[in-house]
This record gives sequence, structure tokens and C-alpha cells, in this order.
Amino acid sequence: LRHFLTIEGLKQHHLTEILDVAESFIDPVTGEISKVPNLHGKTIMNLFFEPSTRTLTTFEIAEKRLSADVVNLNIETSSTKKGETLLDTLWNLEAMLADVFVVRHSESGAAHFIAKHVAPHVHVVNAGDGQHAHPTQAMLDMFTIRKHKGDIFDLKVAIIGDVQHSRVVRSQIQALSILEAREIRVIGPQTLMPSHPEALGVHVYDHIEEGLDGVDVIINVRLQNERMKSALLPSEKEFFNLYGLTKERLSYAKPDAIVMHPGPVNRGVEIDSEVADGHQSVILEQVTYGIAVRMAVMSIIIDNAKQLNADRQTTKKVTEE
Ligand code: CP
Repeated sequence: LRHFLTIEGLKQHHLTEILDVAESFIDPVTGEISKVPNLHGKTIMNLFFEPSTRTLTTFEIAEKRLSADVVNLNIETSSTKKGETLLDTLWNLEAMLADVFVVRHSESGAAHFIAKHVAPHVHVVNAGDGQHAHPTQAMLDMFTIRKHKGDIFDLKVAIIGDVQHSRVVRSQIQALSILEAREIRVIGPQTLMPSHPEALGVHVYDHIEEGLDGVDVIINVRLQNERMKSALLPSEKEFFNLYGLTKERLSYAKPDAIVMHPGPVNRGVEIDSEVADGHQSVILEQVTYGIAVRMAVMSIIIDNAKQLNADRQTTKKVTEE
């Protein structure tokens, strides 16, 4: 992997490698995350054109734990506000000797576009593009599931909420399919479902109790109001009445089911506080594991590049001899 843009098209061994490398950064006794020299001498630039709390901060911590030099470009005070194009901005940052761009953007496809135009030595990591993909979020979710449930194979997973507009859900479904989850269910109103959900390999439920029956893992996602046409916006109260995850509804899942949410959580809209803060919730663990998983993604792409360069040097030497 030169870039990490999407889960789509990856093989099971790619995902397992990320999960295993992430595990290697966590102390099995204390749970602390190591500081390692893997990215010493590398410059990583975090370019967030859209708001973020968890992703930006855990990327920054991950980069520092890998001993990289870290730059967070403040887009609000950057010269993009004076009309500089995205590509001109990137090329100027490249001239400052960036090695990795971590990009979040409101446009679907932005990370791919950037990856197509950067210099050959630069790597791009997608930190969320429009409603298309959020691959590191999906990987930290897989990591959290594996931590609690062992293998993902054989699990029944239910995803509740706004599937249609969620880049997180798209990436989660791809990762769960590659890791061969036994059953992936999506629960929500038809207006928030993609037009052909069967093509994604999921089972659709519009009644939450039925969808939660016997599942091992529940993933709650918020209404992505910023990506909806106003005519489609459901009333928050109505959504909670029909699809909000309450303690009573949680009881339909297996007794040891875990409750996940990528954040930000809208309490009283998609989830009740009693559940978000309850003993089955692993929402804050997901955040912590995001550090190790993002460390894994960045060290793998830099290691791959080092290996490729070493192979090229060996081939060149053999050819010259
Ligand atoms: N899960 C997630 O992407 O959260 P942020 O928007 O806060 O980064």
C-alpha cells in the first residue's frame, strides 16, 4: 500500500496486518501505547478541511508516538481563504518536504484526487471524504470488535442509523465483509438507506427490535444532517422514538453484545445516555484504539515504501553488475 484511501479492494491479509501491527503497539499488561522511532525524520501534515475532534487528535498523537515531525495546517487561517487552489496548496506543502498528507475533506473522492496529484514519494491517508469512506475509523472499529469478541468471523453485527450518508458505515461494511462477519444488518428508515443495500451484502431492517435480535455487536451512527437535503431531514424526536438505542431495545441483542459509536454522539437522538454510558458501551475504547490503529496504518505504508526502495536499489545494483 502506498496510500490508504479506502477499504474497498483490500484483501483480508491487509486488514489483519493493520490489526496485528496495532496490537503490537499496545502493552498487553498496562494497555499503554508505545513510543517508537518508526517515523523518525518523516514530516506528516494533517490537512483537515472539515471539522474533527477524534480523528485529528488521535492522528496527531499517533504521529508523535511514531516520532514523526507533525504539522497541523489550520485551513481557516491558510491561504486557501485567499483563493489558492487545493493543488497549489498541496504542491507548496510538498515543497516543505512533506512525506505524508492526512486529509479530511467534505467532497467524496478528495483523498483519491490528492493522491493522484502528489509527488511519487508522498503518501496520502484518507481521514474521511464526503460520504465516501473513512477507512481508519473502520479499522479501529474492527480492532475494538476483535479485542472484545476475538475473531470477527461468525459475528452478527447490526448498524443502526443513517446508512445512506455515512462514510463510516460504508467503510465498516466493507471491512466486516472482508473479515467475513457472519451477518451484517442495517437498521433505519428507508429514506436513510442506500437504494440497493443488498448489493452491499447487508440485510435491511426497518424495525429496530427485529434488527437487534441476537446480535453480538451494535454500531450506532448519527444522522449526518450536514449531508442531507433539508426536505429529507427527519425530526430528531421522531427518529429517537423509532430508532433510538434505549436500554429496553438493547435487551433484544445478546446479553454480552457491545455498543459502539464512531462519534460524535448525539444523545437523545440516536442513542440514550443510559446506553452510551452503560456497561456494554465501548465508545471511548474505540477512541483510544484509534491511536494504535492509525500508528499501524502509517508505519505500514512507510515500511512498504522503504522495502520497495531497498528492492529497487538491489535490482539496480544487480543490473549494473
Ligand atoms: N469519528 C470521527 O470521525 O470523529 P471526528 O469527526 O471527531 O473526527
